[in-house]
Amino acid sequence: MSSFEVLRDLPHREAAGRLLAEGWNVCGLGDWATVWRSPDGMQVARVSPFEPAYAVFVELCRRLAGHPLLPRIDFDTPLGGGGRLTVLEFLLPVESAQAEGVFERWAAAAPDDPIAEVRRTAEELNAEAATSIPFWGGLDNNPGNVMRNAAGEPKLVDLFYAAGLEIYRILLEDPAKIAEAFAPDRREYICDIVAVSRMSAPDEIAALRTAAQSIA
Ligand SMILES: Nc1ncnc2c1ncn2[C@@H]1O[C@H](COP(=O)(O)OP(=O)(O)O)[C@@H](O)[C@H]1O
Ligand SMILES: [Mg+2]
Repeated sequence: MSSFEVLRDLPHREAAGRLLAEGWNVCGLGDWATVWRSPDGMQVARVSPFEPAYAVFVELCRRLAGHPLLPRIDFDTPLGGGGRLTVLEFLLPVESAQAEGVFERWAAAAPDDPIAEVRRTAEELNAEAATSIPFWGGLDNNPGNVMRNAAGEPKLVDLFYAAGLEIYRILLEDPAKIAEAFAPDRREYICDIVAVSRMSAPDEIAALRTAAQSIA
């Protein structure tokens, strides 16, 4: 892809279509996002249809640009309808023992360990987000959020989460609360997240779509 600018503000379905057409391929699935790998294998594009939280992680990587424990971010944009697209360096999974080791370092936060700076900045951003972002979840220290680069250096990814279970429960029980929390153009594709496409039964999908339609 010669420039990622063409993807700016596209609805996520069109952005993902462009990636597919250019030879990018799905290499990761989360609860929210689909992650696409570039044809040359160097980068990924994380495409999220509805994204309350990842901008805070991108902000962390910006504030600590060049930090050895954070991925390089090459491009980031909101998408039409409330999604987000972020291009970052390709990373590999790590063994669970290595991931646990990294979060032990996080817990100890020894002053001479570079992880202490990540933790301090992440905690500041977490406190700000808790007061400004609806259905904020918090810091996500699950071992799946440790990956590594080609040189084997550990990298922390996706360090914050939105309270997804709560969002989708309330969407069904009291959609007006979701309407208040998220502007209509920020939740157009609320039913497109990966957790729904992977795990919801057809009747659950129908109920979610009806609820989302009622506040569209
Ligand atoms: N930089 C990356 N390189 C390769 N795979 C990645 C990268 N970032 C994420 N992934 C893969 O995609 C999955 C989903 O990405 P993630 O950002 O955690 O999204 P979600 O918010 O949906 O959990 C991850 O669990 C991981 O397997
Ligand atoms: Mg994740």
